[in-house]
Amino acid sequence: MLRNKTTYVVAVIGATGTVGREMVSILEERRFPVSELVLLASERSEGERIEFGGKNRSVKKLSKDSFKDVDIAFFSAGSELSQKFAPLAAAARAVVIDSSSAFRMDPKVPLVVPEINADALGSHAGIIANPDCSTIGLLMVMKPLHEAAKVRRVVVTMFQSVSGTGKEAIDELASQTVALLNFKDIEKKVYPHQIAFNCLPHVDGFLENGYTREEMKLVNETKKILGDTAVRVTATAVRVPVFRCHAESVNIETETKLGANEARALLSKFPGVIVYDDPSRDLYPLQLDVSGKDEVYVGRIREDETIPNGLNLWIVTDNVRKGAALNAVQIAELLIA
Ligand SMILES: NC(=O)c1ccc[n+]([C@@H]2O[C@H](COP(=O)([O-])OP(=O)(O)OC[C@H]3O[C@@H](n4cnc5c(N)ncnc54)[C@H](OP(=O)(O)O)[C@@H]3O)[C@@H](O)[C@H]2O)c1
Repeated sequence: MLRNKTTYVVAVIGATGTVGREMVSILEERRFPVSELVLLASERSEGERIEFGGKNRSVKKLSKDSFKDVDIAFFSAGSELSQKFAPLAAAARAVVIDSSSAFRMDPKVPLVVPEINADALGSHAGIIANPDCSTIGLLMVMKPLHEAAKVRRVVVTMFQSVSGTGKEAIDELASQTVALLNFKDIEKKVYPHQIAFNCLPHVDGFLENGYTREEMKLVNETKKILGDTAVRVTATAVRVPVFRCHAESVNIETETKLGANEARALLSKFPGVIVYDDPSRDLYPLQLDVSGKDEVYVGRIREDETIPNGLNLWIVTDNVRKGAALNAVQIAELLIA
């Protein structure tokens, strides 16, 4: 359990990464009560300086001794490191908020989106999991519709930006784009195919059932967060040549009828969701516009004319903020409230 204090020793594991850097700036923006910030990464980044609270702080190398006196440990350095170090942090009495997929489906670990299932936090035993970035965006929209009309089945196509893969993928899209526009050869390190000017129907590894891990994360995490194993989810994840924000094209079938206007009204009232939906003025959520925003944006809300109770929607979420760092900081805010 979290020590009872007014200010907290906070560690960010993966502080030099895409999510870790955002985490540091969100902690500052939201004035999280930090008494000391411990910035941890690999030995490659040892000594690098990151600004927080008007001071440059030095990055240290992650080790098993990094967690002494740490109250809250935000992990965002990949699953393998979370598997190895999160239990050590929890044993040192830190509460871990883990953004990797390491513990998400562990029945003893709550998987939390604060607007949806904050009550699940009551059962944590030192480790709390932050859901996948596309799951968070989908569920912020699905939750109020599920409450009103019970969602039976969802078909999702994800259009995921390269920042979802991390900083090397951001560099790969930039450098391939520059190379191609200068008639030069490209280098491929992160993705198996050219990502500049291309879409790859392949996010994370393939599983035996033909789906990718990313697709099955959305399926399984949705059921766990909603606490509803009956809801049927099927997904396709596509990596697109966009730097930031994940978009999702979603078809939802509900048990009872929900008109498009009714859905718009429900979504407008849900905290953290913005309905941006005026096709007559060419207004709908765009990845470029949602970049840097805290809210999940939804538009193109319309009835599916092929089934009695269906809706089509377009969702855009900043994968690095609400899809990762912001959701993690919101969880920490609930813990100290
Ligand atoms: N990006 C997203 O949109 C997103 C969304 C939800 C969840 N996540 C999850 O968040 C985690 C981080 O993702 P990211 O996009 O921030 O990746 P990233 O940009 O590649 O950053 C990775 C971070 O991990 C650190 N790291 C790597 N190897 C390490 C080691 N051996 N010891 C200590 N630190 C090490 C890196 O430090 P160096 O700089 O020293 O290499 C860096 O700080 C992943 O588990 C990812 O699945 C990401």
